[in-house]
Amino acid sequence: MRPEDVQPLFTAAGRDALAAASELHDGDPLAAASALRARGMPPELAAAALTQVALRRRAAAKFGTDAAVMFFTRAGLEQATRATVARRRAERLAAAGVTRVADLGCGIGADTIAFARAGMRVLAVEADPATAEVARANVQALGLADRVLVEARDATETPLVAIDAVFCDPARRTSGGRRVFDPRAYSPPWDFVTALPARVPHTVLKLAPGIDHALLPEGAEGEWVSVDGDVVEAAAWCGPLAEVPRRATLVRDGRVAHITGTGDRKAPVGPIGSYLYDPDGAVVRSHLIAELAETLDGTLLDESIAYITTQSPRATVFAKCYAVTETLPIALKKLRAALRDRNIGALQILKRGSAHDVEDLRRQLRLQGTESAVLALTRIDHQPAAILLRPVDARGAAAGR
Ligand SMILES: C[S@@+](CC[C@H](N)C(=O)[O-])C[C@H]1O[C@@H](n2cnc3c(N)ncnc32)[C@H](O)[C@@H]1O
Repeated sequence: MRPEDVQPLFTAAGRDALAAASELHDGDPLAAASALRARGMPPELAAAALTQVALRRRAAAKFGTDAAVMFFTRAGLEQATRATVARRRAERLAAAGVTRVADLGCGIGADTIAFARAGMRVLAVEADPATAEVARANVQALGLADRVLVEARDATETPLVAIDAVFCDPARRTSGGRRVFDPRAYSPPWDFVTALPARVPHTVLKLAPGIDHALLPEGAEGEWVSVDGDVVEAAAWCGPLAEVPRRATLVRDGRVAHITGTGDRKAPVGPIGSYLYDPDGAVVRSHLIAELAETLDGTLLDESIAYITTQSPRATVFAKCYAVTETLPIALKKLRAALRDRNIGALQILKRGSAHDVEDLRRQLRLQGTESAVLALTRIDHQPAAILLRPVDARGAAAGR
């Protein structure tokens, strides 16, 4: 779907088409398209409306009930910040006293909407004219048009005047939709993005979770955010917005928890204890394992691997906790025999610091049995290791179960 395909939906006929498509969408898509055409609707409009209704349903996971009135392109939806994350960011900027923000590369407007809802005036800049129209339609649909000016133009040529903060979420995809991992391929270009804090000190950059720490602007706070266990973004809070060197923010079931630190500490290494913790990806990516190990009173199994071990259980939202059952031989035949002896037929395999292909190993283990377990493939003090585990929930851990 091209962005242009969404434009006919902004008209009165488009609104009617969307309403009709929404009623028919649950059935067979071909039958729905025929039914719309039978009502005299042009085939392109019928197809655009049905596609839009499908995107709105998919978008509900990111935007909740707003999705039902918003407009999306497929690429715009994929790249959009989810509403819970955008809202947090907007509230933090508002709390820092920001009232006028430029959103450079606003896409379909997810962050722009959050800024406007937090009370800011927003200059939303988008290079692609059709995507800019979608952003405009979204602020209109959500009743925010009086606070937002959407401009279809190149951010690199936009004067940054009469604003007190900048947000930039550069596109990290090729024009063909493939992800790019090298920041030098971002658009707007990386040089432009990293020069923003010198122009507007209150700058926030949204970056890929895999960003190299060395590439963060000097003095910036690097924040890694996970939602229900998935790391969704990194952000660089520049200039006066930086509060700590590194922060991991976990959003789980709508609740938010942070762990902060310097990101350059080394945790002590020690022998395997009775419990093993698999930290959330945001903690790992933000290099805050030493800080987490300290709060758990734990040590690492290996200096370069993010598994933490303790003697007694600790409740934490920052890691999954497992009780260590035993260490097993790592050699395939012995491991297979050990799992057979223990009647283990269902095995969740975790790995950190192991070159094993998990699905390949699972096939080779030819599991059979009625018991379930978790197996961590890792290293203990530089040596490959297989550790059999049993999940412990946070409350169980607290209660010592
Ligand atoms: C990752 S998306 C932004 C998503 C947005 N933050 C949201 O949550 O909906 C990046 C956007 O930047 C736009 N873009 C890329 N280069 C640009 C430039 N030089 N000037 C303005 N916009 C640009 C792309 O068209 C794309 O829509």
